[in-house]
Amino acid sequence: METLRVELGDRSYEIVIGQGILTSIGERLKPVCAGTRVAVLSNHTVWGLYGASVRKSLTDAGFDPAEVVIPDGEEHKSLLWMEIIFGEFLKQGLDRTCTIVALGGGVVGDMAGYAAASFMRGIRYVQVPTTLLAQVDSSVGGKTGVNLPLGKNMIGAFWQPSLVLADLDTLQTLPERELLCGLSEVIKYGVIWDSEFFGYLKEHKEDILALDPEAMSHIVRRSCEIKAEVVARDEREGGMRAILNFGHTIAHAVETATGYTRFLHGEAVAIGMVHAARLSARMGLMPEPDASRVEEMVRLYGLPHELPRDLETSALMDAMARDKKSVSGEVRFVLPERIGAVKFGVPVEREVLESVLKG
Ligand code: NAD
Ligand code: GLY
Repeated sequence: METLRVELGDRSYEIVIGQGILTSIGERLKPVCAGTRVAVLSNHTVWGLYGASVRKSLTDAGFDPAEVVIPDGEEHKSLLWMEIIFGEFLKQGLDRTCTIVALGGGVVGDMAGYAAASFMRGIRYVQVPTTLLAQVDSSVGGKTGVNLPLGKNMIGAFWQPSLVLADLDTLQTLPERELLCGLSEVIKYGVIWDSEFFGYLKEHKEDILALDPEAMSHIVRRSCEIKAEVVARDEREGGMRAILNFGHTIAHAVETATGYTRFLHGEAVAIGMVHAARLSARMGLMPEPDASRVEEMVRLYGLPHELPRDLETSALMDAMARDKKSVSGEVRFVLPERIGAVKFGVPVEREVLESVLKG
């Protein structure tokens, strides 16, 4: 069992990473819960796999759990479903002393976090991430929220969890495509922060894909350490937290231009990282061999690396101009200088960007 700490003054919290956590979740929650009332938010897929053991552990530890289980899928990360969730909380008698437990991937985690930020003007919550993406990224750092029909993650709040419990055993049931999406974000940490970690991912591919416990523990821990460090320095993305968005500007454009149906987020991030590295090399910021190493790593894990041929560059450019992070329509990029170091807020000339996207 590994324990890390996200240092945020009186909002600091621990991240516990290990195996067999779900079966002891009740005891683990005791130190952070004010009373015996907790509300578990999950989806049908995850609840079907882990609901019974979570419920048993909670009741064995003396908790009286409310359970709110929503349908699976990003399309339910909406204000409509938030209203349904709040209604369930009230029907099941929750009050301000209650703690929400997010049992699931990033969709459930983002919604549980936003529910906690707004229910009765703010209550506690605990993240129990069950996808690799959620364990290495979305469960840490306090970004919470839902989508609007016109844009992803447009409504939300910064609201830190009281605890993160990452049970590596849950990855055993994760579909391989979802595992690879998590690995895309893991590769991101290597590029933006730690070249040694990047090297580890190359050396230990077989162990990682076989979900070897030591390898998984290492990659989840190192990813969380990096994210915790970045969040501790810039919780609300006034500046350097933007580096966590490496590859995401192009990724969001790809997702928007393909209607969110063709690629999973991590796959779009893989394409985005490869193109951001190419852009950086084209602008003379990153040596060409390093840009090639980003592409090699993405290919090593079987993630997509090229833009679909039928995707119009103009559609991508339009989507980027509307990106949350654009300033007066000008796109700003996170661009690597080498493996392990990036610059953020880099303006890029339209012609250069278009030419890299056209390939
Ligand atoms: P997800 O929550 O949709 O989970 C992916 C799929 O895996 C779902 O079908 C889910 O039911 C299933 N699943 C989850 N755990 C499982 C398990 N252990 N076994 C079998 N199936 C399992 O998607 P995700 O990739 O975890 O998260 C994506 C979401 O996270 C997006 O909404 C994105 O915006 C958000 N996100 C948030 C942040 C943040 O900082 N808050 C960061 C990155 C992504
Ligand atoms: N996933 C980006 C962030 O947490 O800032």
